Amino acid sequence: MITISIITVFPELHESFISLSLLGKAQEKGLLKINLIRFSDFVAPKERIDQQLCGPGAGMMLKPEVVEKAINHCIDTHGDGFKIFFSPQGTVMTQPVVKLLAEELFDSPSTDTQQPALLNHAHIILVCPRYEGMDARVEQEYADTVISIGDYVLMGGDLPAQVLLEALLRYAPGIVGNAESVEADSFTGPLLDHPAYTLPVTWHEQEIPPIIRSGNHEAIAQWRREQACKKTILQRFDWFRAAQPSKELCNEAKKTIPPHYVVLMHDQVKLADGSIGTSSVTSIDIHDTARSCATYGIQNFFLVTPLVDQLSIVETFLNFWHSERGKKYNPSRFKAVSRVRTEISLARVLTSIEAETGKKPLVITTSAKIMSHATTIDYHSQGTVWAHNRPIVFIFGTAQGLADEVVNQSDYLLLPITGMTDYNHLSVRSAMAIILDRWLGLQPKLPKKLPH
Ligand SMILES: C[S@@+](CC[C@H](N)C(=O)[O-])C[C@H]1O[C@@H](n2cnc3c(N)ncnc32)[C@H](O)[C@@H]1O
Repeated sequence: MITISIITVFPELHESFISLSLLGKAQEKGLLKINLIRFSDFVAPKERIDQQLCGPGAGMMLKPEVVEKAINHCIDTHGDGFKIFFSPQGTVMTQPVVKLLAEELFDSPSTDTQQPALLNHAHIILVCPRYEGMDARVEQEYADTVISIGDYVLMGGDLPAQVLLEALLRYAPGIVGNAESVEADSFTGPLLDHPAYTLPVTWHEQEIPPIIRSGNHEAIAQWRREQACKKTILQRFDWFRAAQPSKELCNEAKKTIPPHYVVLMHDQVKLADGSIGTSSVTSIDIHDTARSCATYGIQNFFLVTPLVDQLSIVETFLNFWHSERGKKYNPSRFKAVSRVRTEISLARVLTSIEAETGKKPLVITTSAKIMSHATTIDYHSQGTVWAHNRPIVFIFGTAQGLADEVVNQSDYLLLPITGMTDYNHLSVRSAMAIILDRWLGLQPKLPKKLPH
């Protein structure tokens, strides 16, 4: 039996939630016992449970002694419990956080589902403040963990408590019918769940994909995985990249991510005197850019210069790295440099990408300054851009940056990279590495420890 106490100003808010949900059924079966505890039972008749905030500013707050008495009452009645407080400033509730809490609280699902039990704790105590929240000292003294259900502010902790219970109890043995479906749901791993359908086969002129009705379980599993991956990449790349996806999943993801190209412009750039012109190539840019591009899976890195002598310097350098001697000298550099190409104009780069891929490339320009551009994007816009399913070309400028004309003709302008200082003079190599990492890099998050 799992025992839960909810301490609240309004027990009525929880009554229908409990009786109408799976929680009510679990109570009927004797798997769960939920106690509703009212703060006002711990003050004398007509005494208030709240009082003014200390210091300047209006607002009311629960009296610390009332919260304390309510918690101690729960402990005296049902034994010491794991105390969960709610605050928008707490640990944001995600599926991994819920799973960690479940691991701390519940017996493993393989144990007796007829009589699920709590590990290490006699019961779970949920404390739901209202008004201006909880006195900081009470939280410090009593909370085993403080949970936020998202970055917004509600009027009280009651809905957060219900949200947490709905998520948490799915991991409690015996309460959700099919434990397997919990593990297959969105956010349990790097992927969102696959699209799901029920009858009728055709609804509002939309048909259930025939493969779902094919009876071929292997093909259905494969289709679902592909769809789940596609949806995740386009809608929640932030989640995917942070969830430590396997190499195999990354390869699957690449089917949805269009090919990316990088262009380094030594033409159509702003010069120190304000004019537009050309700049000189530098070998370190080529090396470092090639290595960044190889790391982030860029299809090709194009160096653009219209100057014949500059081109010939680059060609000599590339010829060495493309040769057997270069390969022997440094195989990994050979691999990186093998994707470097030269062109005499941006127009020719775009034409050659279109010829190779059969699709008109989508151009994203970069700048160190905020510029007025019809479509400025940030570093979370991958899904929107990738949904076009066109090759993506990132354009970087040398000298003082790209000419306005190049930016104005691009499809998107990326927000500048900025630190918390007034200094903004990154080398193009550094800017490119940062941008490629923000756009395409994995950003693994270590599994969280249970917040205390
Ligand atoms: C009006 S809020 C207090 C907000 C507080 N002054 C702040 O800005 O952090 C009152 C109570 O509602 C609950 N609450 C509001 N938003 C929440 C959220 N996003 N997650 C969890 N609890 C929340 C908390 O229990 C909080 O103490």
